[in-house]
Amino acid sequence: MGKKIIGKYNFDYPVLVAHRGASYTAPESTLPAVKVALESGIDYIELDVQRTKDGELVIFHDTNLLRLTNAKKIFPDKNNYELHNFTLKELKSLNYGAWFNVKHPERASDSYSELTVMTLEEVLDFVDPVNTGIGLALELKSPYLYEGIEKEIVDTLAKKEIFEVENQQPHILLLSFSPAALKRLSEMRPESPRILLTKRNFVSPRRWQGWLDVTEEVADGIGPKGHVSFPWYIGAAHKRGLFVFPYVINRSWQLKIFSWFSADGYITDRPEMLANFYDRVQEFGESVGEMGEELLEEDSASENEESAESDENRKNKSN
Ligand code: G3P
Ligand code: CA
Repeated sequence: MGKKIIGKYNFDYPVLVAHRGASYTAPESTLPAVKVALESGIDYIELDVQRTKDGELVIFHDTNLLRLTNAKKIFPDKNNYELHNFTLKELKSLNYGAWFNVKHPERASDSYSELTVMTLEEVLDFVDPVNTGIGLALELKSPYLYEGIEKEIVDTLAKKEIFEVENQQPHILLLSFSPAALKRLSEMRPESPRILLTKRNFVSPRRWQGWLDVTEEVADGIGPKGHVSFPWYIGAAHKRGLFVFPYVINRSWQLKIFSWFSADGYITDRPEMLANFYDRVQEFGESVGEMGEELLEEDSASENEESAESDENRKNKSN
């Protein structure tokens, strides 16, 4: 049933989405992470869009700069480190990869110590969805902070001449935790599929129906955490013609389970692993052979890391 639903959007089945780029392999939301994802054989690269103090759209996950940059060192006198209080020039002067080398020495690279922030326009030029066939899954991060950002994103896509083409896989997916932002997008760019994200670790069946009611109003699919993507939940979404993309699926056993449960797409930090699992790695001409098996067995950035990260965010916010 899911296959039929996503067939309406001309997606390949299942849809493989790299979360913040290949964020297991390289610093999240940076050019190397995008580059690895682009070459991995997946369908979409997910990136979070926010706006600088001087009105530029940039790619960054946290609303606060402290976890992933050296903002405190470069600007010790700032009152706070919320991204929207920094100009693009200030953001470009920060380092976005050094944290990764400290946190993940086994995956460190000298080239990560000089990374800068990317604007939405730079990413659109680099990924070039119209010509590469690899799309962008753009999440509007905390859109309540950025009034009017929906139109700015839609206008940027139009300026770069990124339009959807009938009977072709969409170039752009639009994601948000905010139903209101998705509603606005549905009016401004109805042709790009929209996904309502939910952060809940547990949702009762009755509440799930409520989530699906909202999703039906504003989006085409729902992006729940893996914890809630069980067969009954996926089936209930399918019955309403909605697709389901669980996140963040980083382990091979999760992939096996969710494929039995008929998920329609997967959002992962490890696009290389997913592409191997689904035999999408054309350029190496390999299926899941020895190399793939090795990758599948490796321990991954776990959901524990995700919750550690949320703790970090909470800490940063309360500082
Ligand atoms: O794509 C889903 C995912 O990006 C939502 O969570 O916090 O990583 O933006 P987050
Ligand atoms: Ca995101």
